Amino acid sequence: MKSGVTQLGYIGLNVSDMEAWKRLAADIFGMDIRSTEESENLYLKLDERTHRIILQPSDLDGLGFIGWEVPDVPSFERQCGLLEEAGVKLEFANNEEKHQRRVVDFVKFVDPAGFSTEIYHGSTIDGEPFSAGRPISGFKTGNLGLGHVVVTAEDPDELADFYTTHLGFKLSEFMEFGGGRIAFLHCNAREHSFAIVDPGLGVPPGQLHHIMVEVNSLDDVGRAYDLCLEGNVPLILSLGRHTNDLMTSFYLKTPSGFAFEYGFGGLEIDEENWQVKHYTAPKLWGHNPL
Ligand SMILES: [Fe+2]
Repeated sequence: MKSGVTQLGYIGLNVSDMEAWKRLAADIFGMDIRSTEESENLYLKLDERTHRIILQPSDLDGLGFIGWEVPDVPSFERQCGLLEEAGVKLEFANNEEKHQRRVVDFVKFVDPAGFSTEIYHGSTIDGEPFSAGRPISGFKTGNLGLGHVVVTAEDPDELADFYTTHLGFKLSEFMEFGGGRIAFLHCNAREHSFAIVDPGLGVPPGQLHHIMVEVNSLDDVGRAYDLCLEGNVPLILSLGRHTNDLMTSFYLKTPSGFAFEYGFGGLEIDEENWQVKHYTAPKLWGHNPL
C-alpha cells in the first residue's frame, strides 16, 4: 500500500478583495462559488466535493494553508506518527475546525519553510452538483487532486527532502533556468502536485508562487484567455506549453498578487517506472512574459 499523502486536497487563501475574487473564480475560471452559514468564507467548488479552495477574508493577501489528503484512518494515524517521530509539532483540529474544512479529521503543522500545512482524511460530498460559473467542460481533479501548488523557499532541495522523507512524496524533476532552481514533486499520477522555487526567479522565499487548476478541454483554456484579454485581467505568461508536465496553460495575476495557472492536457505518469529528470527550460513554446 502506498504510504503518505495521495493528493493535493484543498487550499486556503487569505484575500482582501472578495468581490474581485468572486468575478475571477466564477467568470474566468468557471468555478462554483458557495457561501457558508458559519463564516464569511467562500468555498470554491470544482467537482463533487463541497470545495477545493477556501477564500478567507483578510487584510493581508496570501496563502492560508495547504491541505494534503491521506486515504483513510490508518494512513492518517500512521502519517501523524511519522511526523511526530521526525520532531514535527502537530496541532490536532477541534470539531469546529473540522467542520470548516468539511473533513472528518485533520492536523496542522508548519513545514520547515514556514508554510501552514494540513494533513486530513475524509473530504465531504454533500450531493450538490457542480454548477460551473461559466460554461466549461469541467475540472480534472479526482485522484489527481485539485491541481498543483508552487511555493518559494531558500533551498528547494532541502524542503523537497522533508516532503519525500516524511510525507511520501516522490521527486519528479529538477529544473534550472534563468538563474533559478525548482524541485517538482508528485504524490499520485499527476506529474507534479507540489513544486518549490528558489529566490533566483525573483519571488522572495516563503511565499505562494502560483496555484494551477486543470480543465478538461483546451477550449476552456482558450476561452478563459480570451475573457482575460477582453476584460483586462492582468496576464503574467502568455499561452504556452511546459516541458515537464506538458500542460498547455497561461498565467494570470490574481487580485491577491500571486499567479494562477489555468491549463489543459497535463501529463499523467506511471509512478512505478518514473525516472527523475533534469530540465534546463520550462517551456516548449509560448509562456512569454507579458
Ligand atoms: Fe505550474
